[in-house]
Amino acid sequence: MAKEKILVTSALPYANGNIHLGHLSGAYLPADIYVRYKRLKGDDIIYICGSDEHGVPITITADKEKVTPKEIIDRYHASNKTAFEKFGMSFDIYSRTSIPVHHQTSQEFFKAFYDQGLLVEKKSMQFYDETAKMFLPDRYVEGTCPKCGNEEARSDECEKCGSLYDPSELKNPKSKISGHTPVLKETSHWFFPLGKYQPRLEKYVQEMNEKFGWKDNVLQYCRSWFNDGLKDRAVTRDLDWGVKVPLEGVQNKVLYVWFEAVLGYISATKELSAQRGTPEMWKSYWQNDKTKYIAFIGKDNVVFHTIIFPAMLMAWNDAKSDKYILPQNVPANEFLNFEGKKFSKSRGWGIDVDEFLELFPADMLRYTLAANLPENKDTDFFWKEFQGRTNGELADILGNFVNRTFTFAHKHFDGKVPSRSKVEKIDEEMLELLKSQPAKIADLLERYKIKDAVFEMMNLARAGNKYFNDSEPWVTSKSDKEKCGTTINICLNTIYTLAEVFEPVIPFASRKIFNMLNSNSCNWENCGGENLTVGDKLNQPEILFTKIEDKTIDELINKLPKSEEAAQEAAEEITIDEFRRIKLKAAKIIAAENVKKSDKLLKLQIDLGSEKRQLVAGIAKSYSPEELIGKKVLIVANLKPAKLFGLESQGMVLALDTPEEGKVKLIEIEDSIELGKTAK
Ligand code: 2FM
Ligand code: ZN
Repeated sequence: MAKEKILVTSALPYANGNIHLGHLSGAYLPADIYVRYKRLKGDDIIYICGSDEHGVPITITADKEKVTPKEIIDRYHASNKTAFEKFGMSFDIYSRTSIPVHHQTSQEFFKAFYDQGLLVEKKSMQFYDETAKMFLPDRYVEGTCPKCGNEEARSDECEKCGSLYDPSELKNPKSKISGHTPVLKETSHWFFPLGKYQPRLEKYVQEMNEKFGWKDNVLQYCRSWFNDGLKDRAVTRDLDWGVKVPLEGVQNKVLYVWFEAVLGYISATKELSAQRGTPEMWKSYWQNDKTKYIAFIGKDNVVFHTIIFPAMLMAWNDAKSDKYILPQNVPANEFLNFEGKKFSKSRGWGIDVDEFLELFPADMLRYTLAANLPENKDTDFFWKEFQGRTNGELADILGNFVNRTFTFAHKHFDGKVPSRSKVEKIDEEMLELLKSQPAKIADLLERYKIKDAVFEMMNLARAGNKYFNDSEPWVTSKSDKEKCGTTINICLNTIYTLAEVFEPVIPFASRKIFNMLNSNSCNWENCGGENLTVGDKLNQPEILFTKIEDKTIDELINKLPKSEEAAQEAAEEITIDEFRRIKLKAAKIIAAENVKKSDKLLKLQIDLGSEKRQLVAGIAKSYSPEELIGKKVLIVANLKPAKLFGLESQGMVLALDTPEEGKVKLIEIEDSIELGKTAK
């Protein structure tokens, strides 16, 4: 197959905090797996990333810590770069947007648009903090989203529902600096006429989707943007931290962070070219219509990569002869949550990458995250799942297969690759799978179905393990040495292919396996064949994955901050003896009627098998009397009788509270349960 020229970018993370697992699952790990796979195929690929160092997230962090923005970006750029390295990210460059070449590049784009007369200067109303005496851009203002009611929406954008609106539409605005309600005050900004590009953008998205199959979630975001109609976007801000607006006489204004951040991909490639001593190299990717450009991002960045950045590149290309390529695909992921909830630094919910890697090797994390990527919907990281995948899959399947094969080869074949003799049906089946599986994995990776690809990788190891078992080499080593040699030869070749196909996901373990095989990573196209030479010496096996003990995981789970509800429950704990005093019994509702003058209560007659009772229950808003007849439920049978609206209630029927539906739901029990039975 012809070699492809590929440019891959991952969203530039803000240098204002540590990278956590959620970030990795969104824009980084999937890209790294894709890039590593393409490198194994021998494609000409560069992988670009770096820190996004301007914009309000940075200045807010700096304000909070009472340090300069420069201190913040230097700190987090360095720590994130290191964390990514430890995690095994294989960027060709991890650049930053504070470098001069980035300022020049973004100013060049702004000037190009300005000179074409594209940018329109408009006066607009902007939030102004009268206490702090400054205009408040975007995230300095928080309020309620006019579309979905999210109370943590930004001045012009809601992270929760993804809508953009005019700041004047935001409800209950509050300044993040002073906490006061800001006023809207006039300022002037340059606007990029995004609306003008809508027809071309729609065509672009449609064409790319037809040719390259965009993900449904991404298309949906685009469609909703197009349906709302694209509006002009201000590309300048009243701030002093950022890329200065390159116009004479303009002060205290910088380029909108998103306008320049996306251009950071280009400036980072320029920096890489300079580092490599080939200053023009970046053009051979960015300005070459043979290049396939794939932009990996998280779902919150879709509009910037499928609409705003492409529009900017179109605008440049309209006026200039050195034309840029546009993203061919934008495989955005949804979000990863942590143990059922959103990652939240302030609530101490989640774990940073560097913290994690102090505890466990990167491959374990890479594997669990890859096996559970939020490709189509949000997913969760659970400690128990992490332990399960590490112990049950990495250690018990892959690790065990490699270990037992090597141990066997050393014990019975002098640590050398044995020869293959007569191939029987069981061997043929394994060889066939070995041959077909890499292509299946490759096909999935090509379509960014990384989670499925990882599943198929492990399936190959699973099949190898089964083949080892079914071939019983511990029997044939005594009865038929040649047959035993065939088994071990096939197992070793399977391990070779496993080391290759797994390399993108668990590169550190893959390297170890290649060392054990005394071999080097092959070209992907050779995967699945007979790659080892008979008689070649093998090295001693190393343990690939150490199992994680329950104790370790339980400690981590116990360290999680308790939710308010959980804390409340812990404070109100009862003993088992206290619980046993409550008699729960199976009952059937045999009659029901409304209670006069009450819209909440129903009078129920229930059958407990040996006796009948009257109950008054507050379920009239959730059930009509008729629908209750015949239902089998649980009641608290030893509750002290009480009088409600003059009626005696001899017990309580159990129901679940579902305030979100404004209702309660009876806990119904199986029809076969005998009336009067007690629950434990
Ligand atoms: O959401 C973010 O973290 C942004 N810093 C992503 C920027 S992507 C690109 F434009 F650089
Ligand atoms: Zn919203």
